[in-house]
Amino acid sequence: MPIAGIYGPDDFGNPVHGHPAAQTRNRVSAVERARALPMPSLEWTPEVERATAHLYERVKNVISPVEWPFMAPYIKAINELKKTRDAVILAHNYQTPEIFHCVADIGGDSLQLAIEATKVKSDIIVQCGVHFMAETSKILNPHKTVLIPDSRAGCSLASSITGADVRLLRERFPGVPVVAYVNTSADVKAEVDICCTSSNAVQVVESLNAPTVIFLPDQYLAKYVASQTDVKIIAWKGACEVHERFTGDELRAYRDADPSVQIIAHPECPPDVLAEADFTGSTAHMINWVRNKHPKRVVMITECSMADNVQAELPDVEMVRPCNLCPHMKRITLPKILDSLIYLREEVTVDPMIAEKARRSVERMINLKN
Ligand code: 13P
Ligand code: SF4
Repeated sequence: MPIAGIYGPDDFGNPVHGHPAAQTRNRVSAVERARALPMPSLEWTPEVERATAHLYERVKNVISPVEWPFMAPYIKAINELKKTRDAVILAHNYQTPEIFHCVADIGGDSLQLAIEATKVKSDIIVQCGVHFMAETSKILNPHKTVLIPDSRAGCSLASSITGADVRLLRERFPGVPVVAYVNTSADVKAEVDICCTSSNAVQVVESLNAPTVIFLPDQYLAKYVASQTDVKIIAWKGACEVHERFTGDELRAYRDADPSVQIIAHPECPPDVLAEADFTGSTAHMINWVRNKHPKRVVMITECSMADNVQAELPDVEMVRPCNLCPHMKRITLPKILDSLIYLREEVTVDPMIAEKARRSVERMINLKN
């Protein structure tokens, strides 16, 4: 059904917000120095080559032998420090292949990472993704140390709305339940009834058994959900700065060039893009689609590191990569992950009162039966 309305900060006379995690902490504090481990050697030696050869096998289709000697010493050092620190690395599907395939313990989409975060035994979680993902891990693990290698890794969706906006929406639409995409701050999660990801958005909306639902902050995901359900959707004006750039014309051009090409798209894309796609799904659903269908040529309409990660695993599938990079995801690099483990930075904190309320919304989603 068509969407019932789209609201934004300007409708409430509020300024457009900056990302709450936008403060930078580039200098090493005295506390970080005090708990630091010694800096490992980062030279490319025969020993490093031997120790990382099995990892290079995983990425040799997407990382050239010229690049590897610059990455391998970091990879070896990170994998050793993870053990020393009793740390686990969670990486989103948009992380680059040397991170996703060579240092991550667990990789996946936002839903998989949130579920995995509830099972972590280690004392330290290093989140290779963006700030809202690290906050979600902290919300689910209040007693663990959650680190993000660069806290400036934000998200245009998370920065489009605050908890105060949600309270104003509730005043405008009393009694209407509110679903928040996990791409939101802890503040927002604390104000809503339940969270969702792009993997389960329709299921979450329908689980509320309400005729109308407020769905925020992604207007395009909201439109996609509205197209799949009879529930009336009230949306927010947020958008993903990576996916909103794709156009239907671009997809038609791929198809004109090769009518046999398969096109798969993330539901954060605008409706004219999704109308041209052969399949729409979360990052994990897109990966599984390629694994199962094994197309000859596929265009992945999403952040382009994901195509590299799939290419590393499936070398015989030809990937057409419309290269839209998420600048936030790309802030996470091997040197910053190493720094994170050496200095235990940058630690993600969430006010315990907010975390408790936000946890209810995230756990309600995780506990939904499939
Ligand atoms: P997924 O939950 O599909 O991994 O999406 C997260 C995201 O940020 C997409 O831009
Ligand atoms: Fe946010 Fe879009 Fe980047 Fe995903 S790709 S983290 S939604 S800005």
